[in-house]
Amino acid sequence: WSVSEWVSNGHLPTAEVVQELVAEAHGRFAPVLDGQVADYIPALAAAAPEHFGLCVSSCGGALFEAGEARVAFSIQSISKPFLFALICQAIGEQEAREKLGVNSTGLPFNSVLAVERSGEGLSNPMVNAGAIAATSLAPGASSEDKWAFIQDGFSRFAGRRLEVDGRVFDSELASNRRNAGLATLLSDHDRIWWDPDEATELYTRQCSLSVTAADLAVMAATLANGGRQPVTGEQVIEAIHCQHVLAVMVTAGLYETSGDWLYATGLPGKSGVAGGMITVAPGKGGLATYSPPLDEAGNSVRGQLTARFLSERLGLNLF
Ligand code: DON
Repeated sequence: WSVSEWVSNGHLPTAEVVQELVAEAHGRFAPVLDGQVADYIPALAAAAPEHFGLCVSSCGGALFEAGEARVAFSIQSISKPFLFALICQAIGEQEAREKLGVNSTGLPFNSVLAVERSGEGLSNPMVNAGAIAATSLAPGASSEDKWAFIQDGFSRFAGRRLEVDGRVFDSELASNRRNAGLATLLSDHDRIWWDPDEATELYTRQCSLSVTAADLAVMAATLANGGRQPVTGEQVIEAIHCQHVLAVMVTAGLYETSGDWLYATGLPGKSGVAGGMITVAPGKGGLATYSPPLDEAGNSVRGQLTARFLSERLGLNLF
């Protein structure tokens, strides 16, 4: 492979090449043992550090898998771009931007300082504060209605009914004081639009939805495909909202290391503390990985290595 072959030509390579490179990425990064499994949510500490699954979904709905691509784990912060997409669709991108903010905080995902520093309680929907505020904007007159909106919307992205992992939900709910504190702070700034405790609970429930790398690859490919789910063919959100979501993912998807990520991959990405990670290649497809050991910013170590490798070898970098 010469560098010129890494430059995007507007398409994914042939199916054979994609499958070969997915298998190569798995073989190459499976032996990497760096990183720590998250334990601030007690149920996550039980994850198997050796699990490593990856899946690429093309915008045409072809799936290329290796390793534990069908092992379930909680979506965690990878829920944030999909929730933001659903909220943009529900209330319009202008109102979503005014209410939540779209600028990178440059700070960790659960930062209180990020909310205070803007002076107005703004952050962005990729960090906990902005995501809790986004959850509070879900349409519905009750928490049940709001949850139905969220669960239904996520399921349409996945192309199957997604369910909550009750063990993870209970565990996070019982150790969730920081998110409850963020919601209280948002309420002090008039930046939350539902009861702060109920909004925190809904956000936590959404983070506990159980997915596989194969689900996430198709969900990421929906964002790559102008909002049309590649397998079911359903238009989940309008194409314009994909552009807004991907813009915020580029600047804030990996929190304070978003610049390093963009430098390495040239693509929008989003991580979650259960070890999932998505990368979106607009017009081409989505990559999802599952590998629980994380770096200090809370991003999967093998996930980042895989995204960088496949971005280069599949010619995905936007720049
Ligand atoms: O709110 C939390 O802390 C978790 N439910 C999600 C955080 C997360 O996934 C951060 N990601 N890398």
